[in-house]
Amino acid sequence: MRIFSGIQPTGRKHLGNYIGAIRHYVEGQERTHTAGDLAIYCIVDLHATTVPYEPAVLRERLYDTAAILLASGLDPDRCVFFRQGDVLEHAELCWLLSSVTAHGDLNRMHQFKEKSAAQRELVSAGLFLYPVLQAADVLAYRATEVPVGEDQRQHIELMRDIADRFNARFGAGREVLVAPGHRIPEIGAKIMDLQEPAKKMSTTGGSGEGTLYVLDDPATIEKKFKRAVTDSENEIRRGPDKPGVTNLIDILAVCRGVTPDEVVASLADARGYGDLKAAVAAGVIELLTPVRERYEALRADEAHLEGVLGRGADRASAIAADTLADVRRAMGVGPVV
Ligand code: TYM
Repeated sequence: MRIFSGIQPTGRKHLGNYIGAIRHYVEGQERTHTAGDLAIYCIVDLHATTVPYEPAVLRERLYDTAAILLASGLDPDRCVFFRQGDVLEHAELCWLLSSVTAHGDLNRMHQFKEKSAAQRELVSAGLFLYPVLQAADVLAYRATEVPVGEDQRQHIELMRDIADRFNARFGAGREVLVAPGHRIPEIGAKIMDLQEPAKKMSTTGGSGEGTLYVLDDPATIEKKFKRAVTDSENEIRRGPDKPGVTNLIDILAVCRGVTPDEVVASLADARGYGDLKAAVAAGVIELLTPVRERYEALRADEAHLEGVLGRGADRASAIAADTLADVRRAMGVGPVV
């Protein structure tokens, strides 16, 4: 078992990132560490250049994201934690894999369609190749398991196809690259916007009020849940006709570590959505307060963050270089070694 996942250093990290992905990184770190396997986590600054951005801001967000991940429990002694741009093999492997990636498959990617439609000036070729770079991230480490939220499902399916096509074309009967599986949580894989519960919570597409940030203080968390959009009934149950209430129930289930049914049962005597909202706010405050408290000190020490990321990059490079040597050899690229 080898775990790999990546997260973008864009915007501010929100409750969807935390519940759908970050807390599973920590779980995976502990599981692999105990089993003598490896979990590898990467902040993907190269991916962040595919849409308009400010270079100085990218660096700031990189440190913000690194500090949030460490504050959430990533431990560089128990996992490999690094910055994508430090390990040159990612970009090279992206190029090499583009030769076994179907243009038509990239054209069908939901995220490409959404993100390209949102661009006003330039739809970059980088945005189109984004999923190939993501495949390179994972395949460079021959990872078997990729913890992500629901929105990444299609990207993981594509990287499986790319690995299979590579092996069929260049493997000569060997499994040079490993087709990974996704690990998408049953509850919390798609946290919805609190104001527009038909849309997923996100930094870019969502409404400011409907996005709950990992670093929001308790008063802000209470306010955002108090104003969360529900529906005109007062029945606390899950269902496709009740996206707002379902979202609140699921968030509370994750906070309490119980099933959504148990949450509903625990609120049988509630006087309406007000009680549900207060309970979710309390649960989320408890979930995020330790992260927020640890964050400030970590974020303040950029030299320490650079040191952590640099050591992680050295460990990551050693693994990725090994895979790249195999890939180059299989493809007949570069000198004979
Ligand atoms: P990113 O940075 O957009 O999101 C990081 C993780 O958060 C999950 N997520 C959510 N989960 C639940 N509810 C939501 N509303 C929600 N919004 C986001 C995402 O599914 C993701 O797991 N392309 C990736 C980054 C990436 C990557 C990789 C991931 C680059 N290389 C290799 C896995 C493996 C992305 O943009 O994630």
